[in-house]
Amino acid sequence: MKIILLGAPGAGKGTLAESLCRQLDIPTISTGNIIREALKSGTELGKMAKSYMDAGQLVPDEVVIGIIREKLADPVCEKGFILDGFPRTIAQAEALDKMGVEIDCVLSLEVDDDTIITRLSGRRVCIDCGAPYHVIYKKPKVENVCDNCSGTLVQRKDDHPDTIMERLKVYREQTEPLKDFYEKRGLLRTVAGQEKIEDTLRQALEVLVK
Ligand code: AP5
Repeated sequence: MKIILLGAPGAGKGTLAESLCRQLDIPTISTGNIIREALKSGTELGKMAKSYMDAGQLVPDEVVIGIIREKLADPVCEKGFILDGFPRTIAQAEALDKMGVEIDCVLSLEVDDDTIITRLSGRRVCIDCGAPYHVIYKKPKVENVCDNCSGTLVQRKDDHPDTIMERLKVYREQTEPLKDFYEKRGLLRTVAGQEKIEDTLRQALEVLVK
């Protein structure tokens, strides 16, 4: 199964992807995590992307398209994958078409702006593996320690209030038009982000088996 997760920043794409990839036994490709990893390792990609990310802007299309092309060529993606955070512009969606990728389903996570602000301001992520947590909704077993790899939990630089507002604006202008793009192809399915993470997962699975 080849799935795209669409949704505003903080809608819960990364959290849902983490559960879905376990349930469906397919890998997740998160462009945000790949770029953050490059930033941490100080690669050319990381250095180039830093100013865009910190300002809540999108990294140029050709850069992320290159990342995705390389990742999809990996044999682990043969039986399917979940794209978290790609495509984010019409140009990126068209590039996916040109790669010959046939998507089965586009899940759009719908969450209102107030909830997004609460989620992002309370989010903590593992500095080592990137797993997302929340100070209220998804607490780790041990405070500030990742359940998966024992890494330290930190707040993302782009989760500060001014940057959150900019990311939402960029989402509305550049990413939301993708809903129409995939609706016209009959691929768009909507999932209302729920108060509880398990409820969002259950709804997403119901939509996927339909
Ligand atoms: P990226 O990392 O993709 O950020 P984003 O899309 O802004 O999404 P987030 O990771 O902030 O949120 P999410 O929807 O995954 O929510 P999460 O599950 O963590 O991209 C970052 C940057 O990289 C971009 O700004 C851009 O610069 C660059 N970039 C990446 N891809 C690019 C592309 N294709 N093109 C160009 N540039 C690109 O959940 C949020 C919080 O809510 C968590 O704390 C979680 O625990 C909690 N939560 C989640 N679900 C629920 C629930 N159901 N109930 C209660 N709490 C919940």
